[in-house]
Amino acid sequence: MSVEPSLSSVSSGSATPTKTSELTDTLARPLHDLRISVTDRCNFRCTYCMPRSLFGEPYRFLDREGLLQFSEIAHVTRISAELGVRKVRLTGGEPLLRPALEELVALLSAIPGIDDLALTTNGSLLTPEKARLLREAGLRRVTISLDSLRDDVFQGINDVGFPVSRVLQAIDTAAAAGLPVKINMVVRRDLNDQDVLPMARHFRGSGHVVRFIEYMDAGNLNGWREEQVVPAQEMLARIAEHWPLEPVDQARFGEVAKRYRYVDGQGEIGIIASITQPFCESCTRARLSADGRVFTCLFGTRNHDLRSLLRAGANDDALRSSLRLVWAARGDQYSALRATLPRSEGASKIEMYQIGG
Ligand code: GTP
Ligand code: 5AD
Ligand code: SF4
Ligand code: SF4
Repeated sequence: MSVEPSLSSVSSGSATPTKTSELTDTLARPLHDLRISVTDRCNFRCTYCMPRSLFGEPYRFLDREGLLQFSEIAHVTRISAELGVRKVRLTGGEPLLRPALEELVALLSAIPGIDDLALTTNGSLLTPEKARLLREAGLRRVTISLDSLRDDVFQGINDVGFPVSRVLQAIDTAAAAGLPVKINMVVRRDLNDQDVLPMARHFRGSGHVVRFIEYMDAGNLNGWREEQVVPAQEMLARIAEHWPLEPVDQARFGEVAKRYRYVDGQGEIGIIASITQPFCESCTRARLSADGRVFTCLFGTRNHDLRSLLRAGANDDALRSSLRLVWAARGDQYSALRATLPRSEGASKIEMYQIGG
């Protein structure tokens, strides 16, 4: 059956919270996901994330000492798993800039309770050897960012002249290593919105899921304006006009993307509508920055420094109660309240490259 592509028509049949933890925040949301940024560095200079004018030669990224070590990240993850975390995503900056990332993957995949371990990357450093090492270490899947199939547009966005063909190659490399692949496309009006249909066409039938993402007001640097957002409803309508879509039940409570499948059986897409259809009420994600600060929202202005605690020799109990307190006090719902927040609210939001999206 083909249906009108409507976000509100998505069935929430299987989207009941799975009780993984008694720990909930002030809005009764359980802690289920941990997104870990392993570096604030990136080899791209995407105009909406790390504009070259601000992140040139003089910019000081975290030094080695400032970064959490793999053992420290594993420690935080083990305690988080005890508190309910089941899903871990490694992000950056560009996470593959961190040498021997597979060693971290091996540590995390051995932690009891962690049943999903994913990586979000720009794909530039994903060689066949790296993909194999990551897979063998226990990585379950990857998400690769690609905002256009046109070289002039994509290179204009990444601002380092990185060609589309090499990202497509990385996608093939990941798949060949046995890693399921999703592709993230951030859509901005008058920049790459013409690429929505070509992206859908290119990946239909490939087995890879493209997620079309509404451009968000993340951080303080990208000069976001509401008119740059292409609403999910419009993206869906454009795609469904060519290839009818039907909604797919959420795989689990708290999923960020709304899922749709092509009625003709050529696969699935996702839409991430953080602006027009905020999903804060089911947000189960904590974020750990590369320097060991915990954020309870992507748009967070406040954070909790775990690195100091770790380096002061805190034991498991101290770490556990610290994380418990942070989550129990959590009331974030930035996207849901965006329209009503005073302009000053969120004036010093964490940047995307520091928290990995
Ligand atoms: P799956 O586990 O495959 O569903 O991936 P994911 O959507 O959790 O992770 P990914 O890193 O691919 O993020 C996709 C997009 O959703 C990015 O633009 C993220 O910034 C955005 N996103 C992820 N989590 C949140 C969130 O909690 N709030 C908001 N507002 N956006 C989010
Ligand atoms: N809005 C939406 N998505 C963004 N990303 C980076 N900046 C933004 C933004 N302002 C995406 C990246 C990556 C994911 C982690 O977040 O392209 O795919
Ligand atoms: Fe681009 Fe991602 Fe790097 Fe930011 S972290 S500059 S979005 S590749
Ligand atoms: Fe979660 Fe904050 Fe995103 Fe809302 S805006 S979904 S609370 S991370």
